[in-house]
Amino acid sequence: MRIDIITAVPDLLESPLGHSIIQRAREKQIVEIQVHNLRDYTKDKYKSVDDYAFGGGAGMVMTIEPIFNVIEKLTAERKYDEIIYTSPDSEKFTQKIANNLSLKNNLIILTGHYKGVDQRVRDHLITMELSIGDYVLSGGELAGAVITDAIVRLLPGVLSDETSALTDSFQDNLLAPPVYTRPANFKGWKVPEILLSGHAEKVEKWRLKQSYDRTKKIRPDLLKDEGFGSMKDEG
Ligand code: ADE
Repeated sequence: MRIDIITAVPDLLESPLGHSIIQRAREKQIVEIQVHNLRDYTKDKYKSVDDYAFGGGAGMVMTIEPIFNVIEKLTAERKYDEIIYTSPDSEKFTQKIANNLSLKNNLIILTGHYKGVDQRVRDHLITMELSIGDYVLSGGELAGAVITDAIVRLLPGVLSDETSALTDSFQDNLLAPPVYTRPANFKGWKVPEILLSGHAEKVEKWRLKQSYDRTKKIRPDLLKDEGFGSMKDEG
């Protein structure tokens, strides 16, 4: 897979995508991530990529020309499955969307900055708009890094069996169960007995129940229409 990220602030992406699991995926060439600095695509002598909003109002707007130039260059080189724009006024990014995007070959992520982007970019160049949650960040770069991370860790060969994405929260619309490690007793705070029993089937049942109870308490919205009727009866 190849992900091209377009940004006015490339430094903000370097660290989140340059360490740990994502860095290893890049080294293993499971994913190629290229970060493009918008300022390299402007003819403005001050390298500016924003301007005042027509009609007035607070905040600067990202201009269309450098964005058009970089997208034109990239799309001439290869076909892209989606051209994504990150902004808070968009569809909410979910595990399901991450799963779908992880099956694609080439993605562009344009990270918003300033007050937003000239609407003509969204109307004519973007194929998908994503928000990572109902709050406003100072820029879309971190959102772009979040989306990239969530996609890349799903690619085959990125996670080992022990860290398999299949057991993550949300993969089955349930939050993950609690986990424990040694010591079994820390200052009297004990690990649940069942986890020390060696009884795999009972452990699995306990974990599922914990997942269900956690989800019911913290995120009941996830349980809607998911057919957990039998669990509810078990109490
Ligand atoms: N840019 C600023 N806030 C954002 C959010 N919540 N999601 C995506 N991009 C953003």
